[in-house]
Amino acid sequence: MRIFLDNAATTPLDPAVLAAMTEVMAKHYGNPSSIHAEGRQARALIEKARKTVANTLNCSIGEIFFTSGGTEANNMALKNSVRDLGVTRIISSPLEHHCVLHSLDSIRAAGVARIEMVGTDAKGNIDLADLEQRLAASQEKTLVSLMHANNEIGNLLPLEKVSALCTAAGAYFHCDTVQTMGFLPIDLNATQVSFLSGSAHKFYGPKGVGFIYVNNNNQIKPYLDGGAQERNMRGGTENIYGIVGLATALERAAAEREQRAATIAELKAYFMRRLTEQYPDIRFNGDPENGMFKVLSVSLPASAKGELLLMNLDMAGISASGGSACSSGIDVGSHVIGHLYPGSPRHTIRFSFSHHNTKSELDAVVEKLGGML
Ligand SMILES: Cc1ncc(COP(=O)(O)O)c(C=O)c1O
Repeated sequence: MRIFLDNAATTPLDPAVLAAMTEVMAKHYGNPSSIHAEGRQARALIEKARKTVANTLNCSIGEIFFTSGGTEANNMALKNSVRDLGVTRIISSPLEHHCVLHSLDSIRAAGVARIEMVGTDAKGNIDLADLEQRLAASQEKTLVSLMHANNEIGNLLPLEKVSALCTAAGAYFHCDTVQTMGFLPIDLNATQVSFLSGSAHKFYGPKGVGFIYVNNNNQIKPYLDGGAQERNMRGGTENIYGIVGLATALERAAAEREQRAATIAELKAYFMRRLTEQYPDIRFNGDPENGMFKVLSVSLPASAKGELLLMNLDMAGISASGGSACSSGIDVGSHVIGHLYPGSPRHTIRFSFSHHNTKSELDAVVEKLGGML
C-alpha cells in the first residue's frame, strides 16, 4: 500500500464524485446549448452546479464561470483586468504559483502594465504595511494578486485584511484560492474580492475543471472567443461531467469541512512532533504553526543521500513532492524555497495531507526517512 502525502499537488477522486460523474457520462449526452430535451437536461445540470458553487461562496450565480482549472482562472483574472478594466499596475508576490508569475511575465513583456512585488517577511508572510504603502503611493488603476494559501509552504494570507486594504485604496483584488477552496470558509458577501479561483482536483474532484468568481461590478470581456457558453465569457462546449464532479466535490467538502480540517490539522501536528523528536536537525519552512493545515514543507541538512530523497521515498512507497508538482520532472528547484532561503544547501520535501491519511502512515514515514538521510 502506498502512502500518498502529496495532496497539495492533487487529491484522489471521491467515490461519490465519481458516481455522480459516471451517471452524467452515461445518461446526459445532450449539448447544453441545444434547445431540445437532452440539451435542456444537460444545461440544467450545469446551472445546478453553478448554484452549488455560488451558495458555497455566498455570491450570485452570475458571478461564477467554469474553466479548465485554476491556471485558466488565474490567467483570466490577471489578463482580463489589464485588457478590460484599465489596470496599469499589478501588485503581487514572488511566492505565487507559476500560473500567476508567468502570466505576470507575459503582461510585463507586452508592456501593458507595471508589475510590483510586495515584500515578505523571513517566514514568507506578506508584509501588509508594505502593501498598504504601495497602494497609497500611486493613484493608477491597480490589481492586487495574492494567493490565499501558498501551495509549497502553506503560508496563509489574511484575506479579510487584504480585502479591506484593497477596498480602501480602490484597488481590485484577485485571490488564488486554489489551495483553500473547500478547506477554509470563504464568504464573498462579507469579504470583498474582485476575482478568485478554484480547481476541482485539489478538493477530491476531477482534474481539468475549475472556476473563476468575477465580482458583478467588474465587466470583463470574453476570455475564449467562441459560442455563447458561460454567458459569452468562455466559448466551447462545456465539460458537463467535470462541472458536475466539481460541484459534488465542493458540496461534500463544505459539508465535511470542519471534520476534515480537524483530522488533517491533527495529522500535521503529530507529524511535526514525531519528526522533531526523531530528527533534531529538521527545519520547517515557512510559518507552519499559522499556515494551512494540509501542507508541511520540511528541510533537512545537505547530505549525499539527500539528493535522492524524493526518489528513495517513492521507492519506499511514499509520495511527496520537492516543491510544487507542476515543476516535478524538471529539477529547477523551488522558486518559493529559493526566495525564502537563498543559497541554502538543505534538501526540501513538501508533505501534504488529506483526511484519508493516518497516524500509522506518518509513523512509517518517520521511520523510513531515517535510512535515507
Ligand atoms: C496555488 C495554485 N494555483 C493554481 C494552480 C493551478 O491549478 P490547475 O492545476 O487547476 O491548473 C495550482 C495547482 O498546482 C495551485 O496550487
